[in-house]
Amino acid sequence: MNENLKKTDPEIFSAMLKETQRQAFNLELIASENFVSEAVLEALGSVMTNKYAEGYPDKRYYGGCEFVDEAEKLAIARAKELFKAEHVNVQAHSGSQANMAAYFTLIQPGDTIMGLDLSHGGHLTHGHPLSFSGKFYKVVPYMVNKDTEMIDYSELRVKALEAKPKLIMAGASAYPRTLDFAKFREIADEVGAYLVVDIAHIAGLVATGLHPSPIPYADIVTTTTHKTLRGPRGGMVMCKSQYAEMLDKYVFPGIQGGPLMHVIAAKAVAFKEALSDDFKKYQQAVLDNAKALAEAFTGHGLRLVSDSTDTHLMLVDMRPKNITGKRAEKALEKAGITVNKNTIPFDPEKPFVASGIRVGTPAVTTRGMGKEDMRTIASFINRVLESPKDEENISKVKAEVEELCKRFPLYQNRL
Ligand SMILES: Cc1ncc(COP(=O)(O)O)c(C=O)c1O
Repeated sequence: MNENLKKTDPEIFSAMLKETQRQAFNLELIASENFVSEAVLEALGSVMTNKYAEGYPDKRYYGGCEFVDEAEKLAIARAKELFKAEHVNVQAHSGSQANMAAYFTLIQPGDTIMGLDLSHGGHLTHGHPLSFSGKFYKVVPYMVNKDTEMIDYSELRVKALEAKPKLIMAGASAYPRTLDFAKFREIADEVGAYLVVDIAHIAGLVATGLHPSPIPYADIVTTTTHKTLRGPRGGMVMCKSQYAEMLDKYVFPGIQGGPLMHVIAAKAVAFKEALSDDFKKYQQAVLDNAKALAEAFTGHGLRLVSDSTDTHLMLVDMRPKNITGKRAEKALEKAGITVNKNTIPFDPEKPFVASGIRVGTPAVTTRGMGKEDMRTIASFINRVLESPKDEENISKVKAEVEELCKRFPLYQNRL
């Protein structure tokens, strides 16, 4: 495989081969990552990348768009079916751009927005000062409740009544519990705000009915396509018909140029896969595995933020093991286990150090791992956390990680 690349650019070929090996022989527990199918990879590595197609199907600024139109129409139709959305724009290059398009469609620079604070599980684009969202808008972040570590809707309501935001953003990057979109809508209506829901993380669960859908409640729903949805890296925006024209104008020409047609073709393939019964079974297994992993962590004396998980991810407090998130991430990486350090709510540590790690099951579940394997993974992690400086211990765990990975082959014809 990749014979031409090997000849033309041995350095990039080598980096790609090593990355394929890394994915195949390590345990990928980053909650925002997944492994796409060979069919999605084929669409991504296709001639569709050559085509300029500014505009939308049947309304392009370039000739020769007949076949990319076919692909984009399929992507839109499948996304509509999957999420029961009135209107879908599949051109957003990323989740961040999807959020930018949503804000631009609904509000003006200088308006007030509310989003979940980054250190409580929100995303940069939900109002962090370093992101465009924190620069263009006045931001009043909301937090989780200190005792429950969950969103308290009566606290949110009080804050919203005070801040009178034009827009409330619901959704998160590191929040393990079910979001109550009806409650968000009620609060937004009471204060006269638009409601945008970012389902980047939970899109696969929403598509299969395993997390309630925000579509009936939100003015605009944004997502990435590459996390639980298991498609190519990219974004997507869904909205009620009344916003369709404005939204499309803000994606192109508002914030983007030509769409990435190879990515849109790959999104269409992923949506077709997501409409299958197998995908629903896969999402159920993601949840079952997350529950099994969470229980096993608790059994090893670790503490979960909010005590549990309803989704594909969990936040694990490292303090019971006297180790920071940063050191835990490094030690686990040496053992072939990939996680990311993550702040926990009201974290005494700085974000770059953090007291927790975020762990997710989408990628290992795609490989076919089940609940028993989750218990094994929790015990690997516990062994590393118990003696993070013991190199011999780490090498032993690493060897066992590799053995487990070999039982669940990945991208074998690319190794
Ligand atoms: C909730 C949420 N929204 C948006 C994004 C941004 O997506 P992207 O990295 O594609 O810009 C992320 C990515 O982690 C996310 O978790």
